[in-house]
Amino acid sequence: MARVFESPDGPPGPARIIDLYCGFMISKTVFAAVEFGLFEAAGPEPATPAQLAERCGIPERSARAMADLLADAGLLVRDGGGFRNAPDAEAFLTGRGPADLRTMARYWDSVSYPAWTHAVEAFRTRQGVRPVLDEAQTEAYESTVALVTAETAADLARTYDFGRHRRLLDVGGGYGTFVRPLLSAYENLSATLVDLPEVAAVVAGQAVPRLTAVGADIFETPLPEGHDVILVANLVHLLPPDRISELFRRLREAASPGTTLLLVDWWRTDLAPHPSARFGAGEFLIISGGDLYQVDEVAGWLTDSGWTFTGLTPLPPPSGVITAKL
Ligand SMILES: C[S@@+](CC[C@H](N)C(=O)[O-])C[C@H]1O[C@@H](n2cnc3c(N)ncnc32)[C@H](O)[C@@H]1O
Repeated sequence: MARVFESPDGPPGPARIIDLYCGFMISKTVFAAVEFGLFEAAGPEPATPAQLAERCGIPERSARAMADLLADAGLLVRDGGGFRNAPDAEAFLTGRGPADLRTMARYWDSVSYPAWTHAVEAFRTRQGVRPVLDEAQTEAYESTVALVTAETAADLARTYDFGRHRRLLDVGGGYGTFVRPLLSAYENLSATLVDLPEVAAVVAGQAVPRLTAVGADIFETPLPEGHDVILVANLVHLLPPDRISELFRRLREAASPGTTLLLVDWWRTDLAPHPSARFGAGEFLIISGGDLYQVDEVAGWLTDSGWTFTGLTPLPPPSGVITAKL
């Protein structure tokens, strides 16, 4: 977009900065394209702007403008007088490939993007700025989280031996992305999932064998007791430090001696975090004042709350499991 300003051999040019300034325009164009079904309409064979316009029900000038931007971004490929999907767009943005990222685009467009307009306030105050979600937004959020965390859930089921445990408490378990593969893999395991009432109701409706779903705000209601392992997956990053300490104290109150605590999350382990984790740190702040936390600071909060930190088991980046014992 800003190539006209480029000066490859001379002093630094502003092109990269202007490209970054324009980043939100690309994002919004991708979101609009998903909304219009433009990638489904484009397909692997070239289509002209007029054909795209007709298939999507939008003005031809809009189809041409969007296709030009999306081709610059690499999601469409110019082919003769038309445009076709690049392989990744065909695989992930049409519903015809191995995974469907269109729900994520809808969540980021309708919830995340408006919240990011308050980024200055969030970075200055460390307060979350995302509004309370309505039912459709909750569904879009939880489905997006499930999409992002499903691989880590499978990694955990492979990496950590739950055969030594009988009763699992999954705190902030979402749609059950972690607990379901664990219950499938370990037939002697039963589980309780706690999440906000509107989320737990969806899990309860799925009637998963050996799983009880409890709807509660974990900061308002004591956590269920009688479990020998507690899993907290991708919740710590949503909380500011004082809330994390409070969570650890509440977990300790629900646990008995010998209980194992597993904290699965994206941890900051070096100066240059994994690319997903880097933008995650901003998104976690925007949502509810969270961050990408260092393992040693989490270990300190665990110790202060009465847990014994026992180590970090890496999972495929950027995830890892912090373990603790009571
Ligand atoms: C990022 S999601 C993680 C879901 C799941 N553990 C996973 O990794 O796929 C965080 C979950 O914590 C839940 N949560 C956040 N604050 C909560 C609270 N105060 N009480 C109960 N659940 C909460 C959210 O509803 C959401 O389902």
